[in-house]
Parts: sequence; C-alpha cells; structure tokens
Amino acid sequence: MTTALEFTQQLSEHPKSAEERAAILANPGFGNHFTDHTVVVDYKVDVDGNGGWSNARLEPYGPIMLDPSAAVLHYGQEIFEGMKAYKHADGTVWTFRPEENAKRMNLSARRLALPELPEETFLESLRRLVAVDKEWVPTGEGDALYLRPFMIATEAFLGVRPAREVSFRVIASPAGNYFGGELQPVSIWLSENYARAGRGGTGEAKCGGNYAASLAPQLEAEAQGCKQVLFLDPFNDNAVEELGGMNIFFVFADGRLVTPELNGNILRGVTRSSVIQLAKDRGLDVQERKITIDEWRAGVESGEITEVFACGTAAVITPIGELKTQHGSIASPGSGAGEVSMSIRKQLLGIQTGTVEDTYGWMTRL
Ligand code: COI
Repeated sequence: MTTALEFTQQLSEHPKSAEERAAILANPGFGNHFTDHTVVVDYKVDVDGNGGWSNARLEPYGPIMLDPSAAVLHYGQEIFEGMKAYKHADGTVWTFRPEENAKRMNLSARRLALPELPEETFLESLRRLVAVDKEWVPTGEGDALYLRPFMIATEAFLGVRPAREVSFRVIASPAGNYFGGELQPVSIWLSENYARAGRGGTGEAKCGGNYAASLAPQLEAEAQGCKQVLFLDPFNDNAVEELGGMNIFFVFADGRLVTPELNGNILRGVTRSSVIQLAKDRGLDVQERKITIDEWRAGVESGEITEVFACGTAAVITPIGELKTQHGSIASPGSGAGEVSMSIRKQLLGIQTGTVEDTYGWMTRL
C-alpha cells in the first residue's frame, strides 16, 4: 500500500499586487503570465534501484535551478499535460476530468521512460496550487486558469539512459483564447514536408519533443498566413492526423461527425473524447476513422462536409475556416463557425463553467 505524500507549503513573499493581477486577468492572452506559486514533487532512484516520490511542496513561482548536464536539457526526457480550472458563479473552482490527464500523463511517462506519478498526488498538486492561487482564475467569456503539470529528467548525467532523478511540477497561467483576440475561424497549413510522428514513435505521448518537431512546419504555416499546421498520417497517404497542438473533427450534413481514429500516433485528447461523447448523445453518428484530404476536398465541394473544427484544452473548439496547401486551398462553407461546432462548444464550456448541468460527472472541485 502506498501512503499519500504530505505536502509542505511556503507562500510567496512577493506575490503580484491585486492591481497587477487584475490588469493581467482583464486580458490574459495565452501562456504569457504565471501565478505566484508552483508545486514540485521529486523522484529519486536509490542505490538499490528503488525509486520513490518525495518532498512534495508548494513554493513561490520562480526559476528552476538545474545542473547544465541535466538529462532533460540534452535528451528531451520530458512530458506534460494541459488542463484548465474554471471559477463558477458561486466562487468555487473546478477542473475538467483531471483523472483523464493523470492517466494520460502516466501513459506518456511509460513511453518516455519516466516514473509514473500516483494519480492522487497529481490531483493533490492541482488542489494545492489552486487553493493558494484561486484569485488568478479569470472569469471572462472563454477564459480559465490553464494548468500545466509537467515532468522533467533532472539527473546530472550525460549517458543515454532513463534519468534516476526527476521532478514533477505544476504551474498555472491565466488564459484567454489560444489564438488571441475574439474567437474566429482559423486557417491551417498542410504540412507536406514534415511528419509529426512515425510508427512506434512518440506521437501518442504528450512530450515536448513532439511540439518541438512541429515548430519548423509551424513557421511554414505562419509564412502562409496560417495559425496552425496540419499533419498527415505518414503511413496512410493523404489521411489527416492532427494539428500541431490539437485534434480535428469534420461535421457532415447527414449527421456524421468524423475524426481520425487513435492509431498510436494521435494524441488522446480529453476534449476530443468529450466532444465524441457529447456528439453521440445528441444523436450524431460519430465515426473514428481515416479521413483523407481528397475526401475533405470532395466533401466540401459536394456540400457533404459542412464544418471543420479543431479541439483541445487550449483551443477548446475552434472553427477551421480554411485549409491551405501547396496545391490550392479548401475553404469551409459559410464563415467556418458552423452551428454544430459552436453548439458543442457552448455545451462544453457551459459544463466547464457551471452554467450547464454536468450530467456526466466530469467536473472535480479543486
Ligand atoms: C493543450 O491544449 O492543453 C495543449 O497542451 C496544446 C498546446 C498547444 C497548448
């Protein structure tokens, strides 16, 4: 039996003033500002080869002291999660399906040869951080406190093997629309020069390396005036895989909702699985299967595909207005912000922010 870790707590002596915080919360953007505290839990393998988590603590937010030879700096042994905390009308703070993130983090940990973190420690870390930084949860439409749990290999050692010292941390960042400004359909760029994942690679893990690999194609996308890059399944010609930082869905006029199947390369999005559940319960025919660029183009031309959207914790549900490729573009019908996408977005945000009843038991109070 494992006993739950005891947390110690050291509060910041220099928290941001209420005025500074209010100015940030009025226009948080995405990923620019961080709360006053952080949670840290250390992992170490002892001389007998037994590993264990210890020294769980809440401390002031600040730079991390790392040895220059720390494994994460050389071999990218790192994983992370993305979650959000929402303030409800009565002032209580909630998060969405955190046990799914805890499980996915352990799936990523196994792939990156990092230690698994007990789910209870993961959840307690979120509770501890939000308990002291709850004034940082923004309440604007579509805003939330973005929680970023992550795990890094801290051992000072240059040999290529799983690190024997690791640390798990959580930081929090008030967040508005991931793409900035008001919600608007985004244009995306088809990456034909770069793949995101290979068979047996780390595509399904939420590790920094996957996102680092998306940056050169993301630059291509930006040069084309696009906000995100779309990757193809490298093993199925023309089949759509996922975007640089989110999953993708296609709404058909006849009630089908299609998204690429989980094939070991695609991230198991918590928003993705929630959209699938909400759509099924509305009577949509959800199909997790291959969908090619040719089917996308033909579907838009024939009027069969009516909406395309991206989804993820950061993106929530963001309509896709256009796919640009080296060989022309596919514009979504209408403005791109279709009825089905926007209505599922509204229901999902309603559950998360407490204005729609949570009949699924998805919300956890922090
Ligand atoms: C998230 O949606 O939480 C992610 O981790 C994606 C990242 C692009 C912000």
